[in-house]
Amino acid sequence: MAKDVVSDRNLALESVRVTESAALAAYNFMGGGDEKAVDQAAVSAMHRTLNRLALDGTVRIGEGAEGEAEKLYVGETLGTGDGPKVDIALVALEGTTIVARGGPNALAVIAMAEDGGFLTVPNIYMDKIAVGPGLPDGIVDLDNEPADNLAALADAKGTKVTDLVVCMLDRPRHAELIAKIRETGARIRLIQDGDVSGVIAATQPEAGVDIFLGIGGAPQGVLAAAALRGVGGQMQGRLVFRNNDQRTEAQRLGIEDLERKYATEDMASGNVTFAATGVTYSDMLEGVRHVPGGAITHSMVLRSTTGTLRFIEGHHDFIRGTAKT
Ligand code: FBP
Repeated sequence: MAKDVVSDRNLALESVRVTESAALAAYNFMGGGDEKAVDQAAVSAMHRTLNRLALDGTVRIGEGAEGEAEKLYVGETLGTGDGPKVDIALVALEGTTIVARGGPNALAVIAMAEDGGFLTVPNIYMDKIAVGPGLPDGIVDLDNEPADNLAALADAKGTKVTDLVVCMLDRPRHAELIAKIRETGARIRLIQDGDVSGVIAATQPEAGVDIFLGIGGAPQGVLAAAALRGVGGQMQGRLVFRNNDQRTEAQRLGIEDLERKYATEDMASGNVTFAATGVTYSDMLEGVRHVPGGAITHSMVLRSTTGTLRFIEGHHDFIRGTAKT
């Protein structure tokens, strides 16, 4: 990534333009029940917008392996090639099912970092734990029992375990974890999809979430770590393998220690820019809203260098602008 602050700031705005375009495109299919259409719209828009930007980008976390995904695949080079050299991590649409069903928490997400800034992970699961900023280092740990993590967190926050809110994906694989958490008396907010959003919620006091726990996508884990580099907080992740093919794929990508517990900086290092635009409503961002002749978007952009978090409201004119195409 360019070392000068001006280019770095430009990347923040450019990143938002990319996520805005994906969010607007996906929203055109909101509530229509067609997951494929929703996803393709977001991917195509993100691809098109990225290719217009003055940067020399390489996708490190993308829509799939080369040959598997047509666009935004891992290793694809994007941008005009004239600007800064950046590594790109993206989930064009976090919550395809959500958008197709018209539910909350869908985001278009991108992060940019210097060369080698992102942990390259296969499209498998990751076990995650995340808390917000301002807490002692190592206050929670993926290897601790939920009761111990929650007791330590309550103590550090000066509250009771029964007042803590845990956010996690509503999945059968979490049955045991849910039971253990409920035994402590802590409250659980189960979300249908969208764990990048869930992790970020744990860092935003107004979202009313104290900790994120559980297993979700590994690419989403890296994106969430990129967000935390900007907004603060602590996160750990460990890859979850369901078969030997997944282990082989991880090794092919250069992962030697398959059991490794990754900290935030292990997943997203150096100068990181993270941007997300709401497609449908979430705790942090409103979703796309169509207005006569255009649409309004709400985005957040974070820079790890300065810790600046910006909320950007975009008013898009479909007649004069190209936002809808
Ligand atoms: P998609 O947009 O790819 O559907 O991802 C949504 C999501 O909920 C992620 O936020 C999460 O990390 C992952 O799916 C969990 O996977 P699964 O649905 O297999 O439990």
